[in-house]
Amino acid sequence: MGCSWKSVVLLVFALTIVQYVVIQTLTSTSYWLCPAHSRTSPAHSSSDPAFKSDDLKGTNSRSRTHVIILTTTRAGSTFTAELLNQHPHVFCLFEPLFHVQDTVTGPNNFDRELILGASRDLLWSLFRCDLFALERYFRPAPIDHMVPNLFMRRFSRAMTQPPVCQDDPCDPVNLTRAAQACREKSHVVYKTVRVVVVEELRPLLEDPRLNVKVIQLVRDPRGILSSRIETFSHWYKPWNVWKSSGLRPASLHINPPQFNSTCHELHASLKTAQRRPRWLRGRYMLLRYEDLCRNPLQKTKEIYDFVGLSVTPSVEEWIRVNTASNAWVEDKYGTRRDSAANAESWRLKLPFDMVQHVQEECRHALSIMGYREVRSPQELRDTNVSLVQDETFEALV
Ligand SMILES: *[C@@H]1O[C@H](CO)[C@@H](O)[C@H](O)[C@H]1NC(C)=O
Ligand SMILES: *[C@@H]1O[C@H](CO)[C@@H](O)[C@H](O)[C@H]1NC(C)=O
Ligand SMILES: *[C@@H]1O[C@H](CO)[C@@H](O)[C@H](O)[C@H]1NC(C)=O
Repeated sequence: MGCSWKSVVLLVFALTIVQYVVIQTLTSTSYWLCPAHSRTSPAHSSSDPAFKSDDLKGTNSRSRTHVIILTTTRAGSTFTAELLNQHPHVFCLFEPLFHVQDTVTGPNNFDRELILGASRDLLWSLFRCDLFALERYFRPAPIDHMVPNLFMRRFSRAMTQPPVCQDDPCDPVNLTRAAQACREKSHVVYKTVRVVVVEELRPLLEDPRLNVKVIQLVRDPRGILSSRIETFSHWYKPWNVWKSSGLRPASLHINPPQFNSTCHELHASLKTAQRRPRWLRGRYMLLRYEDLCRNPLQKTKEIYDFVGLSVTPSVEEWIRVNTASNAWVEDKYGTRRDSAANAESWRLKLPFDMVQHVQEECRHALSIMGYREVRSPQELRDTNVSLVQDETFEALV
């Protein structure tokens, strides 16, 4: 007994040393491979703390910038993530937390509380480009790190191009290659509708080993509701009944998703940002979808500035093509949808009493985000007058 214990201790000791050596080797190798260092743009060489002293330590997860786009369904998050996805130094995954939800609670259960711990764990791993952590959420367990059906894989440039994707079709994904690609980028972006409240990410933002920035993407909740009623018609059945019959059903709440939590969570998150806690300073950006639609290039520049990248000509071209009003492709998870006019098209779709109902539930959130309430059906339908007030949100930065 004593003898075998000793061997176990020795073995563990030996493994630890091996692991240490491997980690050291990997981090120093990736440090030199990191494209940001050879082709640094002015935007991040001077102003981003992530590109200063940390590099000397060779702590790779800190020298990469990790961006998380926090949002909710139908707020324009695919489009926003696409803006960053276009940059060649960006590794972007859309909804990696889908797989946590799918495994832990099932695809139809949106109870985020239940998956919060697992979601945070997974994000922590993903922020270190440890993509193997995803494997836990696939059934059956992947073999040789080959993962089939990665949710929204087709949106990710890094996942659909060499070196990750060498043959067509690229399903299953070789996670070994994907993790390598992730480590070689200067910026890693994850967008998720499965964490909404910034406070919930506080442990990640405070972790000195990571370098995380948060973009909280918001949209007028009346626009979100209108879009959800159309897209998720079976989950929003009572709202659909209300919209088409003009009669409000006795109960609006069927499980899953409850619209009333949308504004609650948004409000909670915005209040946290307004307090400007130390752990969020310089790491938080509030982005309104409507501003992005109105002025896509200007807003994209602000987003790029915030994360420490420069807009390239190809990014500009992508914006030009995909925000043109004729670039309409209907798609549940689609990108090429909303032009500026479209962002407020809900005003011609929702009945006035439904709008009033949302305004009551969302009063505080609307006011913080700068969305004006309407007082009459005439005001609602007069789309010549925007309800989106000019805001800069300096107090929230
Ligand atoms: C995945 O990629 C790695 C690195 O290129 C390679 O060594 C491995 O053989 C690949 N796995 C499979 C199953 O093709
Ligand atoms: C949402 O509505 C349901 C049903 O009326 C209620 O039980 C729940 O507490 C509400 N949630 C919030 C955040 O207001
Ligand atoms: C909006 O403005 C246009 C052009 O000025 C005008 O023709 C139209 O009647 C206006 N619409 C409403 C609802 O006031």
